[in-house]
Amino acid sequence: EVVKGVNGLDKVVLRQVNGTSAEVYLYGAHVTSWKNEQGEELLFLSSKAIFKPPKPIRGGIPICFPQFSNLGSLDQHGFARNRFWTFDDDPPPLPPDANHKVITDLILRSTKEDLKIWPYSFEYRLRITLGPGGELMLTSRIRNTGTDGKPFTFSFAYHTYFSVSDISEVRVEGLETLDYLDNCQKRERFTEQGDSITFESEVDRIYLSTPTKIAVMDHEKKRTLVMRKDGLPDAVVWNPWDKKAKAMVDFGDDEYKHMLCVEAAAVEKPITLKPGEEWRGRQELSTVNKLLDP
Ligand code: BG6
Repeated sequence: EVVKGVNGLDKVVLRQVNGTSAEVYLYGAHVTSWKNEQGEELLFLSSKAIFKPPKPIRGGIPICFPQFSNLGSLDQHGFARNRFWTFDDDPPPLPPDANHKVITDLILRSTKEDLKIWPYSFEYRLRITLGPGGELMLTSRIRNTGTDGKPFTFSFAYHTYFSVSDISEVRVEGLETLDYLDNCQKRERFTEQGDSITFESEVDRIYLSTPTKIAVMDHEKKRTLVMRKDGLPDAVVWNPWDKKAKAMVDFGDDEYKHMLCVEAAAVEKPITLKPGEEWRGRQELSTVNKLLDP
């Protein structure tokens, strides 16, 4: 069901019988809310977020496609996050979706205007699924629908903004000993040394070829946010910290204390699709109300 959200923009609300819910705007196919059984918000959405196209929404889960960051000729993070997607009211029963799941499919196809900045036809189906336990799954299916025989190449991220109680009390598990490209240091390559990642200043890193499971432990809440991913080898970790926060008009000066981006991504090795080929990339989020053992 499509209802009106902020500034009259259309959104879809997904609800499970156990009280969990999620909201997704058709603008950007942008998930802006994901709540647990207690009704607590698990995603960060800035109080300064601007719901005015073409500005992307600050927080939730922006889709970065067909370009992550400024690693190409397109604007930062590509254009999917500031296009109006269409709602598919009769989605196909695609595996591995089964019963007891609440599903919404949104579709984006390249327009004539898009073809001027990125000359490739595609069909992008994003399936947003709320599982019986309140787990939030995003499945992207991107197909090259070109008829001219040309392949296309893209990079991608689910730019997930988690809500955390206090960034200085947060640890990320699952990225230790991995190589990463540090965006704060000209994308130089480093190797993670610590047992887990903690935060005391700006972090903007692309961890390469990570395990499929990453855990964000919120010590104050005694809660673990678990990310599982498939088809997305990399993981971006970002917190702007105080200086960058002040420079962003759509982000409160102190909000960096209460958010952390962990993004399932394909950045180091971009994906190439020949005409007729389809790529699938999945991110699943769930929570555990305790601090999981590392
Ligand atoms: C992160 C990038 O994923 O997104 C950062 O690694 C960037 O470099 C951040 O600053 C936010 O980007 P934007 O375009 O939404 O302000």
